[in-house]
Amino acid sequence: MLTSTKNLLEKAQRYSYAVGAFNLYNLEGAKAVVNAAEADNSPAIIQILPHILKYGGSPLIALFLEAADSASVPMSVHLDHCEEPAVIETALEAGIQSVLADGSKFSFRDNLAFTREMTALAHAKGATVEAEIGRISGTEDGMTVAEKEAKMTDPNQAKEFVAASGVDFLAVTIGNVHGEYYSEPRLDFERLAQVRQRLQIPLVLHGASGLPALMIQRSIELGVCKFNVNTEVRQKYLQFWREYGKTDSQSDLLDCQKAATGAMQEIIAQKIRLFGSAGKA
Ligand code: 13P
Repeated sequence: MLTSTKNLLEKAQRYSYAVGAFNLYNLEGAKAVVNAAEADNSPAIIQILPHILKYGGSPLIALFLEAADSASVPMSVHLDHCEEPAVIETALEAGIQSVLADGSKFSFRDNLAFTREMTALAHAKGATVEAEIGRISGTEDGMTVAEKEAKMTDPNQAKEFVAASGVDFLAVTIGNVHGEYYSEPRLDFERLAQVRQRLQIPLVLHGASGLPALMIQRSIELGVCKFNVNTEVRQKYLQFWREYGKTDSQSDLLDCQKAATGAMQEIIAQKIRLFGSAGKA
């Protein structure tokens, strides 16, 4: 059933687990998340990136909203990493209940002004906003940010930012990266603890693909209620089609779509268990 992201995250915060937010592109992705969430009686979030939203338009938004609403478990639909007010407005008008108003490439002041404006817009429509301060490195949505430019979240700035913007959730940068970790991930838990001491709102950790179980657990203990996952699920899907292309060109396409869904579902189920949300629907 379609539920607000705020409800999902506040409950997760109360009971110390996190909800997986999965970046999706199509029907197979939506089915994979719904099937995995239902099988484990877990809440889940469907996420859409702005360039996918632009490509799929209202039919894709409707598909994700309907997939979430027809699920037997609570689910929401969230717009990920959006810098464009017009796209945020379109998403909110289409019924998406939460957005990441991403001003992280701006200066602190400009990010604050942007986030404050988007938060007022979303709240007026009964929706909620995630913001990001600090800059996550890696590749996402066509953006590449060199690791050296990546800035971690400053706990004092985080406090000031949340108070001044009225934002609902905060994505922190503590050494997490989008895409693959090419060396052992190193998360700055001391920094996360300092952010937690200053903030009561649900925290979000991007770049959850490739994070080991102990880091996931520690992040949850320190206030992370939402993990974003894209790369691992996407890679599994692509790997499926690469292998299919080599071996079995005679198969029925629908059977392949089902198998591709199943491949993604396996990864999503692993994440749901790792995040502690299984059984929490
Ligand atoms: P990964 O691609 O590393 O899983 O990160 C996804 C993400 O953070 C989306 O916002």
